[in-house]
Amino acid sequence: MEVPKINILDESNKLLHQVSKDVEFPLSEEDKKRIQDMQDYLECSQIEEISQKYNLRAGMGLAYPQLGILKRIFVVVNAREDGTFEKHVVINPKILSFSEEMIYVGEGEGCLSVNRPVEGIVPRHARVTVKAYDVDGNEYQIRVREEIAVAFQHEIDHLDGILFVDRINKEFPFKDADKMREL
Ligand code: CO
Repeated sequence: MEVPKINILDESNKLLHQVSKDVEFPLSEEDKKRIQDMQDYLECSQIEEISQKYNLRAGMGLAYPQLGILKRIFVVVNAREDGTFEKHVVINPKILSFSEEMIYVGEGEGCLSVNRPVEGIVPRHARVTVKAYDVDGNEYQIRVREEIAVAFQHEIDHLDGILFVDRINKEFPFKDADKMREL
């Protein structure tokens, strides 16, 4: 697979701090291509030989605002144990419900738009149920959990102009860690 050319904006860009708009269907061919490219890019970033060769940071999620386009679209790609990939295309998402239980990523969340080390915990719901549309405009519902739930919440935040660093307590970056489960 060739690594798609994708220009990912840095957190200093003001587009990453704005609220994106719902998308209308049918999607343009350009958008369909872009969504495919985003998924391929993430897949490449998780394949060691490719990521090393092209010096890619591994990522499991990418949202349209990170490409400078304020539309409510994101993709999540996650390598399974068997080497295949779990892929999600999520358009105009709405969170229908979420678990009371909170979790956080122990090693810290990362973001392809945040190019610096960041300390602290980002509280996330352990499970969320989301309603969204696929590339063909079909509505679907999905319940995601654990790292996929974290990814969905991280990406939905992007659509609202929020970065994970915004969710870390400035004064006490590890505040309430004892009240949540570490992932
Ligand atoms: Co991100």
